Amino acid sequence: MHVYGLVGSPVEHSLSPPMHEAAYEELGVDARYVTLEPDSARLGEAIAGADALGVAGLNVTVPFKQDVLAHVDPSPTAEAVGAVNTIDFGPATPVGYNTDVDGVTRALEHHDVPIDGESAVVVGAGGAGRGAAYALADAGADVHVANRTVERAGALAAEFADLGVSGDGLDSLDERVPTADLLVNATSVGMEEDATPVPAELLHDGLAVLDAVYAPLETRLLRDAAAAGATTVDGAWMLLYQGVEAFERWTAKPAPVDVMNDALRHEL
Ligand code: ATR
Repeated sequence: MHVYGLVGSPVEHSLSPPMHEAAYEELGVDARYVTLEPDSARLGEAIAGADALGVAGLNVTVPFKQDVLAHVDPSPTAEAVGAVNTIDFGPATPVGYNTDVDGVTRALEHHDVPIDGESAVVVGAGGAGRGAAYALADAGADVHVANRTVERAGALAAEFADLGVSGDGLDSLDERVPTADLLVNATSVGMEEDATPVPAELLHDGLAVLDAVYAPLETRLLRDAAAAGATTVDGAWMLLYQGVEAFERWTAKPAPVDVMNDALRHEL
């Protein structure tokens, strides 16, 4: 039996176990997916221990996505983003991937939203904002990051300058959103609250809006976007596709996307 799991804190309410175990059941893969909360001071030991025990793969979430980089061989994407959310223990040295990046691009592709050559605005410059900005810029979009703390947006833009990413405060939404093709909310605004980081009057029917928030599934931003005639993509699609990509890297099998999606949405 193969053991996969999620390392983070807290992880007890994670939706990854039902999503991955539904895939194992569908494809007859003999595997289990468990949740683990290591002592943060012993993360390196935890990763080495999992490797020694024969764990096949781990997802990594808050607060370990950055720290775990030092304990794996990062893929170029994970290295560029500065975060790992998926470890494959198959190779001699565990390899760290960032499938959150694929979660953004594959969620949009699933909804037939083009990225290459499009004008994109990412709201938020934290971990999720970094991943989304990299994903879109690497896929050929012209990316602007708007963040409450201007310095953080500027630092992210400077780091991703080679990819043409710009950054500014939330005021820049007024100018950027009306002419944008793509908008991603990578802040926590809207999570368990009826609030939005983007004024409704800026939204328009030429826009595709992806909200990283998935609780609730229909955030105020997505409601406003739908009312403005925009294409909407909820946060569960990102969660689904980061898991799909991890599953495919671990098993080298095409993931049963519909089964994983049903299992995920059943929990939401
Ligand atoms: P994550 O890893 O999920 O991105 P994070 O690093 O804590 O989490 O980042 C949270 C993001 O949400 C940041 O962009 C934060 O803005 P600041 O950099 O100014 O803190 C943003 N955010 C959180 N609450 C917000 C609010 N009420 N209004 C606007 N932005 C908010």
